[in-house]
This record gives sequence, structure tokens and C-alpha cells, in this order.
Amino acid sequence: TKIKAFRQALLNWYDAEKRDLPWRRDHDPYHILISETMLQQTQVATVIPYYERFLAQFPTVKALAAAPEAAVMKAWEGLGYYSRARRLQQAAQQVVRDYGGQWPTTAAELQALSGIGPYTAGAIASIAFNEAVPAIDGNAFRVFARLFCIEDDIAKPQTRGRFEALIGQLIDPERPGDFNQAVMDLGSSYMRAKDPDPAHSPVVAFDQSYQTNRVLDFPVKTKK
Ligand code: ADE
Repeated sequence: TKIKAFRQALLNWYDAEKRDLPWRRDHDPYHILISETMLQQTQVATVIPYYERFLAQFPTVKALAAAPEAAVMKAWEGLGYYSRARRLQQAAQQVVRDYGGQWPTTAAELQALSGIGPYTAGAIASIAFNEAVPAIDGNAFRVFARLFCIEDDIAKPQTRGRFEALIGQLIDPERPGDFNQAVMDLGSSYMRAKDPDPAHSPVVAFDQSYQTNRVLDFPVKTKK
């Protein structure tokens, strides 16, 4: 089927070309939470040394939960958005206190933790626990809006549900974490916002916006 061909094209490319990133060395939910929280506000190249230092200093969810708040803030210095660091530590404390250090494994449960929204919950559930749920950030909105010429305004809250339904049909049930991370890599390379190169993307055969010469018309996003 076309869906299976799409998954295969995407994952074959990911297997061959995926970026070698420190948070892709294992599937530890604590590691995924740290990296995804840092990556919400900051470029990959900047995040890498922060990620390595943060984990050296707070190697486990228990260590982060028990650390002095000031030490966490100090480790975050330069990344900005300090409320994220505070909520990150609160999430670690919830995992230790409410779950006895055993992570909840579904996106629905993860979303109840401090600072964890639908994107981060989907990333952790799919990458760490193999749940077949999408992780929809700006990259995923752009990639799927272009592939399917989706006219919905991504600035509108209702739009997320439509993308969740679509991506939920496409996501590889065997490799949901790799599928989501492959979409992130596409969104930062061939299907980037500015100066994309869709002609050479591994999924060009499935790219309706490219085939109709409308790549830069998507995603549709109104200003607030
Ligand atoms: N951006 C957000 N999450 C990412 C990830 N897991 N890998 C690469 N880039 C990302």
C-alpha cells in the first residue's frame, strides 16, 4: 500500500542518514525528556553540550528530583526560558514521588506531568516506550502540511487534532519513535522552512505540495 511505501521510504532514509545525536544513543525516558525540553527552545548544535553536562551532573531522574533548585538553574544558564527548567525538575519530582521512580509509559499519563505538553508526551511515549503516537512540533506540522497540502491554519488550536488523526494513520506501528524522529530530520533538512530542497527528499514521491509547485504555501499559519 501507499502508506507502507511511505513508511519504508522514510525509515530507510532515516536508517542510512539519521543524525548521530547524543540523545539517540539510548531510549531512556529521562534522557528523552531532557533533550526534548532543551530542543524546544534551542538549536541542536547548542543543545548538545548542555545535554551532556546536564546528564553528567544529574544522571538519573532521582538525582534531578533531589538536586537543589539553584543547581538546576545554574546548569540551565544560557539556555533561557528558566520556567522550563523549573517544570522539568518538578516533573522529575512527580515521577519519583507519584510513581516511585517508575515512569508512566503512555502519552496520556506523561501529559499529566509538569511542563509536558502533547508534543513532549508523544516524543517520550513513542521513542522510549514504542507507543504509536505522533510527536507534533513545528517540524511535523510543516512536513505533513506540505506532503498533503493541508490548508488548516496551524495557529488554530483545533488543527492539532486533525494532524494527530492523519499522522496516527501514517505512523509506523513497529517503529513509532524512529518515524517521529525521521520526520524531525526531514523538517530540518529537505523540508526545512526556508530554502527547502524537496526535489531530493526521500519522500518526494509522496509530496503533493512539490508536485503542484506549492511547497512554500504550506504550512498555512495566520498571525495572532
Ligand atoms: N528536535 C526536537 N526533537 C528532536 C530530536 N529528538 N532529534 C532531533 N531534533 C529534534
